[in-house]
Amino acid sequence: MFCKNIEFINYRNIEKENLEFTDGINVIHGENAQGKTNILEGIYIFARGKSFRAFKDRELIRFNCDSAYAKLTYENKSSSNELGVEIHKSGGKKFYRNKIKVNKTSEIIGDFRAVLFCPSHLGIIKDSPSVRRRFLDVAISQLRPIYIKMLAKYNSVLEQRNAILKMEPSVRIQYEGIINHYSDELASLCADIAGMRIDYIKKLDYWVKAFFDEMMKGRETPKITYEANAKENDLESRESLKNKYSRLLKDNLEREYKSGATLYGIHKDDLKIEINGRDARFYSSQGQSRSLALAMKMAEGEISKEYSGEYPVFLFDDVLSELDENRRKYILSKIEKRQVILTSCEPLDFDEIKNVNFIEIKNGKRETYKISNESADTEVFENENGDFENTESDEPDENGEDSLFDGEESDIIIDENDGDEE
Ligand SMILES: Nc1ncnc2c1ncn2[C@@H]1O[C@H](COP(=O)(O)OP(=O)(O)OP(=O)(O)O)[C@@H](O)[C@H]1O
Ligand SMILES: [Mg+2]
Repeated sequence: MFCKNIEFINYRNIEKENLEFTDGINVIHGENAQGKTNILEGIYIFARGKSFRAFKDRELIRFNCDSAYAKLTYENKSSSNELGVEIHKSGGKKFYRNKIKVNKTSEIIGDFRAVLFCPSHLGIIKDSPSVRRRFLDVAISQLRPIYIKMLAKYNSVLEQRNAILKMEPSVRIQYEGIINHYSDELASLCADIAGMRIDYIKKLDYWVKAFFDEMMKGRETPKITYEANAKENDLESRESLKNKYSRLLKDNLEREYKSGATLYGIHKDDLKIEINGRDARFYSSQGQSRSLALAMKMAEGEISKEYSGEYPVFLFDDVLSELDENRRKYILSKIEKRQVILTSCEPLDFDEIKNVNFIEIKNGKRETYKISNESADTEVFENENGDFENTESDEPDENGEDSLFDGEESDIIIDENDGDEE
């Protein structure tokens, strides 16, 4: 799969721009605060259904404008397609597939698939469990649309159950039957969602082992499993998972009334990551954690390819500058035959890779572009007026804290409603 081009109108700091990409490596470069991450964010909206860093959709609208628009054209092995999104200040976000409006955001998830990798993801091993759950949720959603529906349903039941748990004892007495009903519903959804997570993690474990092994020359062996209070082993059947979640919810109801929240379920589960039998969440070094994070992102791409037969688009926001020489070399050795769109402040060295598409961004506009080739030592960059430019910047990389999970309150990634403003 590859992203052919993206067009923006009044999106973030981009008034109007149309960017073309090649199916190989594309480098969006420029000084700080010019709009590089904005572009990756704009592309990723079509994979995830929402921004990875905006708290509200309206943040995406250019200052002093009423609406923003983006259109992405991508090609997969069978066809060329167009996805559009319109965001209005008055509220609401509308997606279009080949110019036809879709009813729900979740309907477009999975059409265009991408793996996003930002510096904050390098901390996934040591971050809180919610960050690892979101990694799973975002990855699985792109492959299995039903997963999004289940998460949305789970979130809604959880919210209603929590509302009862928060009630005064004298009021909640009349809701006893309802809370039992919600517990059953949650347990059933937990079994389905945990089952899909476990399936995904088996593949993740396989690929992370393979990448990590290559990176670390077989010195260390990672292992990834699903960690849930309701699970004892990976071979658990759906029925057994459901019964265990159900038991946990029933047995702990008094505790839950005291704390006013549901204490068990897939919103509390985690990914257990080990290296040579030790829990990496607590014992891995910074280098080991980064290699594992890198392996997880590469694995995400492989699993996506297993499902659909083609690689997703890889979006790397400022990660190459965050990695040391060995890891950078490793990642570059792995990205051939895949489309990669990456951002960087520093000039990057792609000596061994031909046909790299360089796009320089300045103040939300494409300033210059160039496709390198075998005799590319003549570093010529040209802007639309035909002027030649030197694109090197001496600006330090301030490494914007762009987190995949910024501004998110809940684990559930997709709003099932129309015009989803969170
Ligand atoms: N809604 C908006 N309207 C106009 N400008 C915006 C809007 N949202 C963000 N910006 C501006 O976009 C600019 C570029 O942001 P972006 O994060 O893409 O920069 P960048 O090129 O990735 O920089 P860095 O190298 O520091 O990561 C910022 O100066 C920001 O103020
Ligand atoms: Mg940036």
